[in-house]
Amino acid sequence: MTIDNTEGARAQIGVTGLAVMGSNIARNFARHGHTVALHNRSIAKTDALIEEHGSEGDFVRTETIEEFVAALQKPRRVLIMVKAGDPTDAVIEELASAMEPGDIIIDGGNALYTDTIRREASLRDRGLHFVGAGISGGEEGALNGPSIMPGGPKESYQALGPLLESIAAQVDGTPCCTHIGPDGSGHFVKMVHNGIEYADMQLIGEAYNLFRDALGYDADQVADVFTEWNAGDLESYLVEITAEVLRQKDAKTGKALVDVIVDAAEQKGTGRWTVKSALDLGVPVTGIAEAVFARALSGAREQRKAAVGLASGRLADKPADAAQFTEDIRQALYASKVVAYAQGFDQIAAGSAEYDWDLHPADLATIWRGGCIIRARFLNRIKDAYDENPKLPSLILAPYFRDAIETAIDSWRRVVSTATLLGIPVPAFASSLSYYDALRAERLPAALTQGQRDFFGAHTYERVDAEGKFHTLWSGDRSEVQA
Ligand code: 6PG
Repeated sequence: MTIDNTEGARAQIGVTGLAVMGSNIARNFARHGHTVALHNRSIAKTDALIEEHGSEGDFVRTETIEEFVAALQKPRRVLIMVKAGDPTDAVIEELASAMEPGDIIIDGGNALYTDTIRREASLRDRGLHFVGAGISGGEEGALNGPSIMPGGPKESYQALGPLLESIAAQVDGTPCCTHIGPDGSGHFVKMVHNGIEYADMQLIGEAYNLFRDALGYDADQVADVFTEWNAGDLESYLVEITAEVLRQKDAKTGKALVDVIVDAAEQKGTGRWTVKSALDLGVPVTGIAEAVFARALSGAREQRKAAVGLASGRLADKPADAAQFTEDIRQALYASKVVAYAQGFDQIAAGSAEYDWDLHPADLATIWRGGCIIRARFLNRIKDAYDENPKLPSLILAPYFRDAIETAIDSWRRVVSTATLLGIPVPAFASSLSYYDALRAERLPAALTQGQRDFFGAHTYERVDAEGKFHTLWSGDRSEVQA
């Protein structure tokens, strides 16, 4: 271990911002044999890292930005792991002033992709490379292998890719890291990843709620179900940790921990960003939106308190066949999950078209198979589906998923209708099923919407049997004219 930089520029990578994520990534680099320059606004964090983990590899301790930059081999590569927003801009400015053309600044935080587009353009003007890299996997992933989604100039990936790939999770010998595309594409893709994460978590929550409120299971019983599910098609990190969280006991009361946690879900914003962006792009990410709104509703604690005891109109008793209902929930979860991913990939395709990013869905499925929060067995199937047809109009149409939904459809309907009859909320299950029904419908009520729009605003409509736009003279003789 080296804790000074008297030997000059010898670090392959620098990490600034040494809170838990930054420290863990720095240690991951060092453990993979890279010399890592460390920097933090307060030196105490840097020293703590070196004291506790200095033996894990070769670290260079630096105090000032100038010292930090001087410790790096060229082209200099600096990973920023600070809070998204203004703190990121401040650090970028400080670094950019001390760096030289050709150097690379990587933002590994959850930045808003439009900020990344802006920052990349401004640093490009100064001859610097700016890489917005989505990093998923939480604290544990940062240390032992995250999924990394770097955007930015392709040239920078030549100098950066091998470094990032060396610390990323590996699945079947393939690193969970690839160059995503230009400017803000890495952070855009990470944002949608988080949107899918929200949907997945909400769907799991709805499944748990049904076991608790429809079948009367306690947390341990639900944990057993999730453990079993994790051995099948639903195998995923989120299903695995669900069982662990449900099994955890509260030391103070002896109850299941989940029963003493306040039922108000918080959010830092990436789910909300996904939905806002989807609205702008015109992509119906209904599962993700329901998940974001469900968190908001859970957080409306005063309103909810006032509403407890409102009429329920419960029209059914608890399901008589618990085993059948359990299987129904499993199928509903799987099918709704396919919808959430299908919608997320639609948003990625729309973002790619809007910003001219040329994103490759199969590559994204590949790097999400390991390291990240939404890692799951069925990402292999998504990868296969896009490998086979990169222009798939919807993931739902891939033969594998089409068949899976066909198998699940009756169960899915039983779950949504039973929950409705029992008065148990299933916003994500229900909206995913409605999305599926709308997508496959031959006729939607949108024709009526068009008629109404034409009636009150002369907005015109198209006909099923002729080209062009038409308008009915609603306040005249109601004949039709070509618009
Ligand atoms: C990841 C996670 C990570 C984080 C988010 C979600 O991919 O490692 O998505 O980015 O957990 O901050 O946070 P919220 O639930 O607070 O929005």
